[in-house]
Amino acid sequence: MSKPQIKFWSERRQEMKKDLDSRRLPCAVAIPQSKFVENVGGIIRTANAFLIQEIILDRAVYNKAATAGTANWENIQVEEDVIEYATKKGYVKIALEQHSRSIPLWDFEFPANSVIVTGHEVEGMSDEMVEQCDYVIEIPQYGLVESLNVATATSIALYEYCRQHRRETKSYK
Ligand SMILES: C[S@@+](CC[C@H](N)C(=O)[O-])C[C@H]1O[C@@H](n2cnc3c(N)ncnc32)[C@H](O)[C@@H]1O
Repeated sequence: MSKPQIKFWSERRQEMKKDLDSRRLPCAVAIPQSKFVENVGGIIRTANAFLIQEIILDRAVYNKAATAGTANWENIQVEEDVIEYATKKGYVKIALEQHSRSIPLWDFEFPANSVIVTGHEVEGMSDEMVEQCDYVIEIPQYGLVESLNVATATSIALYEYCRQHRRETKSYK
């Protein structure tokens, strides 16, 4: 590729990122134990689909294939203490967990500046982590399986957030 073409694509890329950033919804996802790289990649892909503000991870690891190429377009923030960071940013912290304190998803009104805090794929979320959050929400289930995969659960919660806070936006398709 010749130099003018490289410059064109670099400028075009910056324009596209700027445009995406100007249209983001003011919510975020926090992954305090981002160990399962495919799940983290899947969440990044969903975050891009719904154009949320940022994804907060405790380490910079995710499966690139699972992101479907979206990682470069997203705001991925790596923080040792994701809860502390989310608190400082002024997000209302929403634990996504099956818990005695939880509110069914369809009875919950998401504050605009929500951060959805996810649990660990195997261990779930500790009570200590739940206590640090402002609300706990649960996706009602009816079948035999006891829980959803964390990336699936996050997608459902983000979809509901977008349904409540949707606005006219253009698509790149
Ligand atoms: C596979 S689940 C964890 C299961 C774990 N064995 C347990 O018993 O807690 C992984 C994560 O997905 C989310 N999750 C899964 N199903 C959910 C549901 N029905 N409602 C809310 N969150 C859910 C939670 O964040 C949970 O910590």
